[in-house]
Amino acid sequence: MHFPPIAERPWLVSYGRRRARKLTPGKADLMETLLPRIAVRLQPDEGFIQNTPDEIAKAHPRIWLEIGFGGGEHLAEQAARHPDVLCIGCEPFIDGVAKLLDDVNDRGLENVRILPEDARLLLEALPDASIERVFILFPDPWPKIRHQKRRIVSQQTLDLVERILKPGGELRLATDHVDYAIWMLAQVVQHQGFEWQAERDVDWKTAPSDWVSTRYEQKTRAQGREPVYYLLKKKTSKK
Ligand SMILES: C[S@@+](CC[C@H](N)C(=O)[O-])C[C@H]1O[C@@H](n2cnc3c(N)ncnc32)[C@H](O)[C@@H]1O
Repeated sequence: MHFPPIAERPWLVSYGRRRARKLTPGKADLMETLLPRIAVRLQPDEGFIQNTPDEIAKAHPRIWLEIGFGGGEHLAEQAARHPDVLCIGCEPFIDGVAKLLDDVNDRGLENVRILPEDARLLLEALPDASIERVFILFPDPWPKIRHQKRRIVSQQTLDLVERILKPGGELRLATDHVDYAIWMLAQVVQHQGFEWQAERDVDWKTAPSDWVSTRYEQKTRAQGREPVYYLLKKKTSKK
């Protein structure tokens, strides 16, 4: 697939490099062959059917969406565990996209779709109440105060997620960054569209039983940082 240079896509500048290293021939090949088959197309593209957000939502009653899947470990494992759910992942980092393609190919996963782009483009394009679950796991923390406006968990993102979630749909957030953990909760409280499911400390200090742990998360723990896990449900009406 063709990726326009970053200069033509100013919204991507904030992530830094889109490609860290040269892809292996196998991964480069998957970018040319597998990605076009499973990519989400924001605009209808002749020759590809059922790949626009509308078409995908119509064809699949159960869809989960991961924003910023990194290397795709979590998305691939969720897809393998839940063959009845379509798992869509968004990630502008091409090395991560290629790694997920490798996994999809090796494991023969049929229920994965990828948008190799800013997730907000898909959040804007998906129909209302079309998604069952959204994951934003260990998003870039942007620790400097002047960069905090780049954080993906924001009122704008929460508005978009609330709109596309089905009634009772779930938003799962995780971070290992203390300041971002506080920020996330403050954003959720301010937004009022979501109900935090935790009843006791242990509910957000430990991963839920169906959690898929990634290498990123294991590294975090090994470095002595304790992640937080927020399970939020879309409210039926704002109070
Ligand atoms: C710290 S990494 C975590 C990756 C993965 N979720 C994990 O837990 O291993 C954050 C990822 O989010 C991606 N990202 C940042 N902003 C994004 C956006 N607007 N849309 C989609 N992905 C985004 C980055 O490229 C990066 O791969």
